[in-house]
Amino acid sequence: MSITPHILMCPPDFYGIEYEINPWMSRSRQADRELAKQQWSDLKSLLEQLGAKVSLLAPVAGLPDLVFTANAAMIYRQQAILAHFRHEQRQGEEPLCDRWLSENGFNVQRLPDGRYFEGAGDALFCGETLLAGYRIRSDIHSQQLVGKLVDSRVIPLELVDTHYYHLDTCCCPLAPGVAIYFPGAFDDYGRAALREVVPKLIEVSADEAHSFACNAVVVGTHVVTNSGCPQLHRDLTAAGYTPHATPLSEFVKAGGSAKCLTLRLDGEEAAGWKGN
Ligand code: ARG
Repeated sequence: MSITPHILMCPPDFYGIEYEINPWMSRSRQADRELAKQQWSDLKSLLEQLGAKVSLLAPVAGLPDLVFTANAAMIYRQQAILAHFRHEQRQGEEPLCDRWLSENGFNVQRLPDGRYFEGAGDALFCGETLLAGYRIRSDIHSQQLVGKLVDSRVIPLELVDTHYYHLDTCCCPLAPGVAIYFPGAFDDYGRAALREVVPKLIEVSADEAHSFACNAVVVGTHVVTNSGCPQLHRDLTAAGYTPHATPLSEFVKAGGSAKCLTLRLDGEEAAGWKGN
């Protein structure tokens, strides 16, 4: 059964580099707001051309990172496990995401107080297995709780390089058993665990990981990334995927790219969910 991918995005009307919570961000290297708007619209148009339906979360002044909707929650069927951000600069996003998701028919679940969890930025289904990044933003206890809420096997992956602080900056499932990853973002244990549960891993070089090659939006067999990832695009083509590049330089200045700007509302790997 084919489904129309449904994606949540938030326009960058109030986007900018107003604080520094990861190594990519520097208030002295501002994003160009007009260029950011253009890049964001181009990404949205491309996803729509590929058949996705895009819904919008209203932007809010003073919450510049609200554009990164991947972090709002993790969606599993009609459940939305709401984020609780590690940095207080982003915690103001939580009630807005809660409201949007509740008003749009999701059963919003919150983790217990004191648990950090940054949504689909750190929790990615590969088939029925939940790949779960932890340490820099989400914590490992949250990931175990999320696994229980969605009754899924969790593979916790410790993130060891602060440049790759969310799992979606260094890993992207493409299909059950297939994913893109940057080995340098994981420790030996994480790399071994990934190899064990994802038989076909497409490796990204350090250079292209730095261009956010792993931060890809997958729509069927189409894979959308920032520009500057030619080797990954060759490897994707060889593996039977159709890569698309779209420039997202202004969002890289905040430590984000294509995937971070999107949240799959029908679930990342809906096809792999139990009972489908
Ligand atoms: N500036 C944001 C932060 O540090 C970027 C978030 C990127 N989102 C993502 N899903 N990787 O939180």
